[in-house]
Amino acid sequence: MNVLVTGCAGFIGSAVCRLLTEQGDTVFGIDTLNDAYDPRIKQSRMDGLRDVSGFTWHQMDVTDRSGLTSLFGSQKFDSVVNMAARAGVRQSTADPWSYFETNVTGTLNLLELCRTSSVNRFVLASSSSVYGDAPVPFSENAKSDRPLSPYAASKKAAEVLCHSYFHNYSINATCLRFFTVFGPAGRPDMSMFRFIRWICEGDEVQVYGDGRQQRDFTYVDDVAQGVVEAARRDLGYEIINLGSDRPVELLSVIRRIEERSGRSARIVHTAPNPLDSVTTHADVTKARELLNWRASISVEEGIDRAVDWYLDNSSWARDLAL
Ligand code: NAD
Ligand code: UGA
Repeated sequence: MNVLVTGCAGFIGSAVCRLLTEQGDTVFGIDTLNDAYDPRIKQSRMDGLRDVSGFTWHQMDVTDRSGLTSLFGSQKFDSVVNMAARAGVRQSTADPWSYFETNVTGTLNLLELCRTSSVNRFVLASSSSVYGDAPVPFSENAKSDRPLSPYAASKKAAEVLCHSYFHNYSINATCLRFFTVFGPAGRPDMSMFRFIRWICEGDEVQVYGDGRQQRDFTYVDDVAQGVVEAARRDLGYEIINLGSDRPVELLSVIRRIEERSGRSARIVHTAPNPLDSVTTHADVTKARELLNWRASISVEEGIDRAVDWYLDNSSWARDLAL
């Protein structure tokens, strides 16, 4: 396949690009390399992809319609994988417009170009956050029209936009709801990266609330595998959870990091954030049935790999802005 991957310098997008090229596909990536979080880690992911055969990329914005139009005019894609986004839950009240511009208008631009260029397979990176405080485990059929943050609202909007392009133009659109993805070279704004860095560097570990909230942490390579499976299939319009199906408390994540790093956490509790779901837990029945997918890396193994990555890269990773 010839695949367009947006957000190729991102945590998950870069893993998707790598996996597709390993499987023999040709990948064209685009990314703005914006500073939503420290772009030095995006640059380091791109450095890792530089010599990968079958991979090329351009610095481009999914809100740039004329740039995208030229790109779709110069290449024929079999699949579009839209990973580009403003992605932080709690930061999304500060500039909600930027979330809607990239996550909704960017998705619309890509869907329109799929329509006019006869690309009939589209994969959207959606989010467990659309479930808000729905009862767990979250099934794809659960109500998701009460998102808690502008970010979650933007992801829900992008999903329903995909449906309209499936309905009107038969573009196969698979919306994958990822659950708190983690692993080496993760996002510095997320709990896993921050907890590891704070513990390894002896800094205070800021936990919002009592730390008993649970996340269905899902390892980045497992998520990339699910994305690639979806990019190969014509499923009509589907929403599919990609989660571990094994929620864990933040406090037990911190304990595992302490064990692996051999250092102790100095935990400071601050107020819980009202934008956060208390617990996330994926029902993954559909992922098994439609994508033959289930997570294979346990949270313990994934934490160990992320801690080892941090210790190997701490000479520069300790200076990244959090
Ligand atoms: P990320 O921020 O690391 O990756 C997103 C990439 O998109 C970044 O490299 C960024 O520079 C790029 N980007 C942002 N705006 C852009 C624009 N307008 N045009 C082109 N590129 C742009 O985030 P991630 O954690 O890799 O997440 C990837 C996708 O998965 C996002 O859509 C995110 O919302 C979704 N998601 C992530 C998680 C998670 O836990 N990491 C969970 C659920 C959903
Ligand atoms: C993550 C990603 O950031 C989103 O892009 C994604 O859409 C979402 O997962 C998802 O599953 O869909 P979140 O679950 O908030 O969002 O991930 P973290 O930033 O790792 O936060 C997890 C928990 O740790 C939250 O309860 C948060 O309040 C807490 N936290 C985070 C802290 O206690 N301290 C911190 O410094 C950061």
